Amino acid sequence: MLAIAILAAGKGTRMKSALPKVLHELAGISLVKRVLHSCRQLNPDRCFLIVGHQAKEIEQHLEGIPDIDFVLQEPQNGTGHAVQQLIPLLNNFEGDLLILNGDVPLLKAKTVQDLIDKHKTSKASATFLSAKQSKPKGYGRVFADRDGKVNKIIEERDCSTEELENTLTNAGIYCFNWLVLRDVLPELSPKNEQSELYLTDAISKVPMAVHLETKNTEEVNGINDKSQLAECECIIQKRLRNEWMSKGVTFINPETSSLSEDCNFGIDVIIEPQTHLRGKCYIGDNCKLGPNALIDNSKLGDNVKVIYSVLNQCEVDSYSEIGPFSHLRPEAKISNGCRVGNFVEVKNSAVGEGSKVNHLSYIGDSILGRNVNIGAGTITANFDGYKKSKTVIGDFSKTGANSVLVAPILIGKEVTIGAGSTLTKNVPDSSLAIERSKQLIKENWAKSEGST
Ligand code: UD1
Ligand code: CA
Repeated sequence: MLAIAILAAGKGTRMKSALPKVLHELAGISLVKRVLHSCRQLNPDRCFLIVGHQAKEIEQHLEGIPDIDFVLQEPQNGTGHAVQQLIPLLNNFEGDLLILNGDVPLLKAKTVQDLIDKHKTSKASATFLSAKQSKPKGYGRVFADRDGKVNKIIEERDCSTEELENTLTNAGIYCFNWLVLRDVLPELSPKNEQSELYLTDAISKVPMAVHLETKNTEEVNGINDKSQLAECECIIQKRLRNEWMSKGVTFINPETSSLSEDCNFGIDVIIEPQTHLRGKCYIGDNCKLGPNALIDNSKLGDNVKVIYSVLNQCEVDSYSEIGPFSHLRPEAKISNGCRVGNFVEVKNSAVGEGSKVNHLSYIGDSILGRNVNIGAGTITANFDGYKKSKTVIGDFSKTGANSVLVAPILIGKEVTIGAGSTLTKNVPDSSLAIERSKQLIKENWAKSEGST
């Protein structure tokens, strides 16, 4: 029998943030979701999340994830006090309790499994992860015998100068025999620098505690402040880039680009500097992204080029070129072989195969057929101040520079629109539409009186 408790009630004062600590993100995934992920495969009988500070926000954030029991710790009187909240809830429980700090997000499932295995074979009342940290600042120090038996954990604030020399730190991941822990929890005392009940004090109170030292110390990095958050982000980004490089993705200057956990790449993709992918992205074969691209929750076909552009919740089919300086917004669907160029914004629109929107345009709520050529500065005026309306442009049509198409409007196939036209009426197939006043010429104007 196994129960899991994730401690996530603390305020995270050192983060200096209005956001609860465990909702901060690494590569787009919150710390608490990462911790949950590290132990989900264990199929526990119960899974508790101890919440307190901004409990509602955390519960909302985890809405929809099954089988989590939220336990309110109020006030937040330390990690030992957090676990005390489980006493009434694990009344008849006789198994092991795995306790994870909610701010240790890089932990791997395999390491958690190793801890549980060690706990079973050691027959100890408590087994926990330790690590020799090169920068042990902030961590509790572990005092153990050579055979791995632990006498005590002393929090950094309570250590003497001599004790601080010990770099064996507590990772904050524990497996306890619940019945033993339950009996010692009421004995915890707040006689420490923070006047809190420390879970770490339970270690010296149980009959036998052992530690499992992890060699991969990065995995048990705890996050208490923004620089530790940044350090972990660096570690994750490096891991993600290396993973994709090992599958054939080329990065030019990798440190300048970032990925999400939910990216997928085909073969021979080149990622130029300053290119960032967020959310769920799929990038086909031979794509060239960047320099300078932000691609968020989007899907690209094969051989797509994106340079200096922002793509958000959109789809771009094969052999299309985006940028420089294009903005594809949600529901932009760009078909094969299109060009979307300089200072062009496309929103909730389908651009048909082979069409070009090369310069200074806004295309919103529109359907463009095949081989349409949108002249520089063409605007689909989709909003009348109250509602959004649609523009449809048929295959092989061309809009002149600076056209305004006032929606709702239907432009047929093979239509030509004269430059500078503001069209408010539908245009039938194969016709020319011009809307502009006749040009007036006054000769010799420069010499006349009226010119001064
Ligand atoms: C804790 C350990 C320390 C260890 C380090 C590893 C204690 C006393 N110390 O220190 O030995 O080296 O983690 O990262 O446990 N929390 C609650 N309720 C509370 C207080 C905290 O749920 O009343 C939660 C926090 O939200 C956090 C976790 O417990 O997720 C750890 O708390 P934190 O204050 O960060 O402990 P550390 O000082 O890092
Ligand atoms: Ca911590």
